[in-house]
Amino acid sequence: MLLIKNATIVNADAASTGDILCQDGLISEIGPNLAAPPGAEVIDATGKYVFPGFIDPHVHIYLPFMGTFSKDDYATGSKAALMGGTTTLIEMCCPARGDDPREAIRLWKSKAEGISSCDYTFHMGVTRFDEGTAEALKAIVSEEGITSFKVFLAYKGAFGIEDAELYQTLSLAKELGVVVTAHCENADLVAETQKKLVAEGKTGPEWHEPSRPLSVEAEGCHHLMTFAELTGAEVYVVHTSCIPAVEVIVEARKRGVTAWIETVAPYLTLDSSYAELPDFEGAKYVMSPPIRAKEHGDFLWKCLADGTVNTVGTDHAPFDFKTQKRMGHPENALDANMQPTGKAGNFTLIPNGIPSVEERVKLLFTEGVKRGRIDLQTLVRCASTQAAKIFGLYPRKGVIAVGSDADIVIWDPEWSGKISVATHSMATDYSAFEGREIQGRAELVTVRGKIMVRDGKWVGSGGEGEFLWRTMDCGGKR
Ligand code: URP
Ligand code: ZN
Ligand code: ZN
Repeated sequence: MLLIKNATIVNADAASTGDILCQDGLISEIGPNLAAPPGAEVIDATGKYVFPGFIDPHVHIYLPFMGTFSKDDYATGSKAALMGGTTTLIEMCCPARGDDPREAIRLWKSKAEGISSCDYTFHMGVTRFDEGTAEALKAIVSEEGITSFKVFLAYKGAFGIEDAELYQTLSLAKELGVVVTAHCENADLVAETQKKLVAEGKTGPEWHEPSRPLSVEAEGCHHLMTFAELTGAEVYVVHTSCIPAVEVIVEARKRGVTAWIETVAPYLTLDSSYAELPDFEGAKYVMSPPIRAKEHGDFLWKCLADGTVNTVGTDHAPFDFKTQKRMGHPENALDANMQPTGKAGNFTLIPNGIPSVEERVKLLFTEGVKRGRIDLQTLVRCASTQAAKIFGLYPRKGVIAVGSDADIVIWDPEWSGKISVATHSMATDYSAFEGREIQGRAELVTVRGKIMVRDGKWVGSGGEGEFLWRTMDCGGKR
């Protein structure tokens, strides 16, 4: 039992003051001057913000990708999430095209079960659609508790699907009422532009962004919007990076398409100049869609403040700099065993992704709230509540209310420090935000009432997390 006294409770719609009593994993009472029941631990939150546990709607923990595997497992990934105030992860289950979808979701679940310290669920990746797929996906919804899909319009030859498959996936999603999350880039345009640049000898990480220009992402979004309009499916565009992509989706909304927009922490807090750092350092910042020029990040902040952009995830996709990113070194690339090939590589071989699950809320608070770009309600809305509502977790998650899970973040707004690989909990050998000054941190974090982080330090033991079974009638959607 836990009693949090003198809390400034920040929900997405309002802030209030009071005490919060947590019993049996739930918030059982909120009110002024609550008395501590016998045996309750009492925590004084005077001067702190008390937020609902944050939800990251887009992470990769187990990710076989570009000839290697992402670096975190659920032990490190969930610890890092919690250290940053994120209490629920929604991971992309990304089977290879030839894999059986039901086996894939069981494999992904097995990576988390008994290991994750935070709660978790998955978006089911649809990387092929053939005669058996509809039946398999229906079973995944009803028998595996998964109510959102993921499609890739990018990554031709890997996770990417063809247009007929996209149409069938969205039609099925409409029939089942599930949300389809989508990576939107035109795969053929990416492939052709990559070939052209490499043939011209443009092989360093700084050429990653030009190989996937704004128009290629906007075309991907337009493509998805057309299919969503025809099928009536509800869609959610992941990692939206730029002005033209947002504009295309906003236009589709005016035509009646239900389309949610996610952006991710790196697009708000980094810019394309990072990929130009010398000595191959730019490889640390290679992700897709690429990190854009600063004006796009500024625009995304405005869209968060006015509600055009609905959620902020991370697209946490951790790869080591000294080894894995070097698979695309332009002079001497490493192979899949991380051995030198003695040959020239290029940016198309750099595993795409940036580790950031630990830093998202700190960055949003420092760069967003403290700089006056967003208010506290917007922080909670875009980093917790909206994801809970879109993906059928609300009001169990995403709000501090009686009956909700006692996932609570006590946030110290006065703390200041620096981000560093030396102190982070993620498994990667670098931080994309090394040396960044941070204001505010998660001082105490609970998952269903159990304290996982205390005084900013890890006190979890591992495996406390639960799989969040979602159903189509879990209610509270939006
Ligand atoms: O660069 C990225 N985004 N890597 C992870 C895979 C994906 O596209 O989400
Ligand atoms: Zn993606
Ligand atoms: Zn992703």
